[in-house]
Amino acid sequence: MWSRSGRLLGLTLPPGVSVILRRGESLCLPNSCRSDSRLKVVEALSGAAVEEQEVQIQGWVRAVRVQKEITFLNINDGSSLQSLQIVARPDLDIRGITFGSAVEIWGKLVQSPHKKQSIELLADKIRLVGACNSVDLPFKIKERHSLEYIRQFPHLRCKTNVFSSLLRIRSEASAAFHSFFKDNGFVHIHTPIITSNDCEGAGELFQIEPASKTAEKQNNAHFFDVPSFLTVSGQLHLEVMMGAFTEVYTFGPTFRAENSQTRRHLAEFYMVEAELAFTESLKDIMEVMENLFKSATSFILSKSPDDVELFHKYVAPGQKERVEQMLKNSFQVLSYTEAIDVLQRSMETFKYEPKWGCDLQTEHENYLVEYCGNIPVFVVNYPYDIKPFYARDNQDGPQHTVAAVDLLVPGIGELCGGSLREERLDLLQSRLKHMDVKHTFCSTLDLFKNCGRHGLKDTYQWYEELRQFGSVPHGGFGLGFERYLQCILGVENIKDVIPFPRFSHSCLL
Ligand code: 4AD
Ligand code: MG
Repeated sequence: MWSRSGRLLGLTLPPGVSVILRRGESLCLPNSCRSDSRLKVVEALSGAAVEEQEVQIQGWVRAVRVQKEITFLNINDGSSLQSLQIVARPDLDIRGITFGSAVEIWGKLVQSPHKKQSIELLADKIRLVGACNSVDLPFKIKERHSLEYIRQFPHLRCKTNVFSSLLRIRSEASAAFHSFFKDNGFVHIHTPIITSNDCEGAGELFQIEPASKTAEKQNNAHFFDVPSFLTVSGQLHLEVMMGAFTEVYTFGPTFRAENSQTRRHLAEFYMVEAELAFTESLKDIMEVMENLFKSATSFILSKSPDDVELFHKYVAPGQKERVEQMLKNSFQVLSYTEAIDVLQRSMETFKYEPKWGCDLQTEHENYLVEYCGNIPVFVVNYPYDIKPFYARDNQDGPQHTVAAVDLLVPGIGELCGGSLREERLDLLQSRLKHMDVKHTFCSTLDLFKNCGRHGLKDTYQWYEELRQFGSVPHGGFGLGFERYLQCILGVENIKDVIPFPRFSHSCLL
């Protein structure tokens, strides 16, 4: 048995990492866990493997330049925005290799004499793995295509620089959120995707049933015996955990059958949700929201500077400065009542008249953010009648409010929604009863009538029960992951920050 530490295949290993090999076993790189001499483009460009043994690069051709003696290929494998330049001698067979081809190349990495890159690969062998019909490919070699244009090709757009940058940033952002919660002692809970509750009570549910004609379907019975839906939020399931955990979070897909075609709504989107026990103040929730936003953003800026720069330079000039402003200033706070006052006093002509008791529209949210100097702003204490049943009653008056908070951010409007939860059983019961009588809850309740559940009392009996077994004041929030990406990158349309957007009348692929 022998061990190598420090350097492997010319790469510097992180301190403390060593690779133990038995005779005859192949090498396994710490990051790629591949069993041969393959390198990712990002590893090759790091310069650590220069002029050592032969390496293999696999990827797709982003550019071909044929010169008299030599052909240059640029190869990208999704590991970085930058491509690796390949220098191919005239004796190498490059027939059929075009823009978009998939190739494997063996050769040696050397310092490049060219200004644009520091490393290049002198090829010894090139193999065409998958030919590409570059004439029919909708992306052209030297053109910069708009996000709207590439959106038409969801099966191909990962091949563009801008969308592969987006996907790498999205991946880092996801890691950033997980690491924030891990570093702060939150436990990750996998909340279900299939549920029999409508957390938000807005009736924007996708109902699910088996597609095949099963016996149950013929008898008009449900697969789960009760109507079931794709979740609109993991909140109620996180609240269950408030009986045994002090800080939990979930991060997964959520679904809303909203018939809206706006630039900030999807039918399937990802939500980051956190729930905190032993909290009696919205300030605790707001502090986590602000820290989460700032810490995730700093993480992404440091991990993906080139990818983020592409957006800040070419997609949304000026966004870099806007993000810096958001990071360096404390988020503002306005009460809902103050917000309505600001809107009513403004000179702006709104499509929807701002009135106490009505929900804030996107135009109102954008005005409020501008009013606060383009710094994110928390709007707190919303009218009792416009927030879901779980929001904690402030027991104030005559303008009756609940302890709910929305975080509004520049360019987007609402990024997060949260609240303290009604932990007082009597108030919760009377609220549910009141909603039942007034039929202010979603129409989906009718679906339960044949399943032995009658009204909200039956549907939320388990939720009420949570308040009887060591219940504590608690609260939390949800952050729309795609809206967050729009906000930091300056992307106008939400469909451009998710790999496969789903919205009404569109479910491609
Ligand atoms: O404000 P919402 O509806 O809050 C909840 O669902 C709470 N139950 C969360 C909680 O307290 N745990 O949704 C939270 C966020 C919104 O602020 C918005 O950013 C995003 O989710 N969101 C959407 N994003 C894209 N498309 C949609 N259709 C969205 N609906 C909400
Ligand atoms: Mg909301």
